[in-house]
Amino acid sequence: MPSRYEDLWSLSVRKGFLWPAVDLYGGFAGFYDYGHLGAAMKRNWEDVWLETFLGLDENYHLIDGTIALPEAALKASGHVDHFTDLLVRCTKCRETHRADHLLEDITGEAYEGLGAAETDAKIRELKVRCPKCKGELGPSQPFNMMFPIAVGPLGQDRAYLRPETAQVAYLNFKREFEALRRKLPMGLAVIGRCFRNEISPRQGAYRMREFLQAELQIFFDPATWDQAIPFDAIAAAPIHIAFADEKGKGGFSARTAKELVDGGLPRWYTYHLAKVQDFFLRTLAVPPERFRFAELSERERAFYNKIHFDVEVRQDSLGGFKEVGGVHYRSDHDLGGHQAGSRERLEVSVDGRKVLPHVLELSFGVDRSLWALLDLGLGVRDGKSVLRLPPRIAPIPAAVFPLVSKDGLPERAREIAANLRRRWRVLYDEGGSIGKRYARMDEVGTPYTITIDHDTMKDGTVTVRDRDTTEQKRVPETSLLDVLSELMDGSRTVG
Ligand code: GAP
Repeated sequence: MPSRYEDLWSLSVRKGFLWPAVDLYGGFAGFYDYGHLGAAMKRNWEDVWLETFLGLDENYHLIDGTIALPEAALKASGHVDHFTDLLVRCTKCRETHRADHLLEDITGEAYEGLGAAETDAKIRELKVRCPKCKGELGPSQPFNMMFPIAVGPLGQDRAYLRPETAQVAYLNFKREFEALRRKLPMGLAVIGRCFRNEISPRQGAYRMREFLQAELQIFFDPATWDQAIPFDAIAAAPIHIAFADEKGKGGFSARTAKELVDGGLPRWYTYHLAKVQDFFLRTLAVPPERFRFAELSERERAFYNKIHFDVEVRQDSLGGFKEVGGVHYRSDHDLGGHQAGSRERLEVSVDGRKVLPHVLELSFGVDRSLWALLDLGLGVRDGKSVLRLPPRIAPIPAAVFPLVSKDGLPERAREIAANLRRRWRVLYDEGGSIGKRYARMDEVGTPYTITIDHDTMKDGTVTVRDRDTTEQKRVPETSLLDVLSELMDGSRTVG
């Protein structure tokens, strides 16, 4: 029987969500292309993300920036020296493996951040052999995950493809601070492509070499933000938390935001945990039992972070809770690094004080989030696939069908579809039985289908069908735009 991962991958490729890039030439490990449905879904996710997170404060803005960064900037950020994974090579077949993944595959525990000597000792203790040929593994060695590029006709300028979008925000901080209103907090969001030379790309959209991030960097004054944050509004919110020593058990417990603050987390950090959770549970409709924040221990967290909780969604296709994002307190690591590296002062003046802002980063993997929504959405009804995507994320939010292809119904249906297309991506379909047409739209996640029949010609009403309940309701054609808007934003239901 195909696994859930295979089912999802098959749907993705067959219908046009995501597939291996360059497959005409046998593929290109770690690189993927989005088809027509995937690209539309991605765009919808990005729109909803921007609306949510730029909506947190009037001083949060979207910027865009270069993908290639010179070595000096990435040296100052710490990536040249510290952005490494441990690699082991088989002494027999020469295959390379990521050391922590080999250990994780055998024990089920996380080994990220373990040093080379400890990793080698663990490999010996567990008698780990090459998974490909069972040969002996050589010593582990650090491997920098950035893709180097040589810029200029002689390749004289060393540079790298950016490993995270965050650097664009740090490099533009000073200019934006001056162009905006010289106020903190100031948020700079970037959505864009990143590149990491993953040693073993795997699990489709989970570990890619080129992937998309949506990141918001919030620059703040550490002396004042804790009191300024509107914490009371979320103090009683239950937040799904697995602390570092609990997360291995695979669950979480709900602690109120106030309990977390009493336990030592800053109010501004906890406030943003609540906002990120809200995005997943409400906006993306992730079932509550499938969402948690998982704390990273000092050993596990990225070199730039002081507080680090991963955002995780439990996905059957990937075998459990999997990281889709992170809430990172990066302190003044980045601006401090760039200030030292560039010799430009990055301190700003706030209420007569010189402040080097600290950074709270809300970081999201777009591809991983999309995969998670496909995983959570895919179900079966009466032997047929139904993809329950949130209406605002669905690539085709509505489809219009004439019941039969005669008596003027196709013309009327086309007119209605064209009218709705002013607001949404709407498909017109008159091929096959109405049941087949419903099934085709259910399979690609379309939440609402509209049927035009002979009654439409008499009384001007149309039928709206809900993908999830299959309920149908007649509504006047003249109110269809309003009805669909309310259905899409969740303020009404069919039926
Ligand atoms: N700026 C912070 C940062 O880059 P990260 O945890 O390394 O932090 C952020 O990456 C998010 O980017 C992850 O939570 C994940 O969703 C996504 N991501 C990271 N590496 C990825 C990869 N190889 N393939 C797909 N998504 C990835």
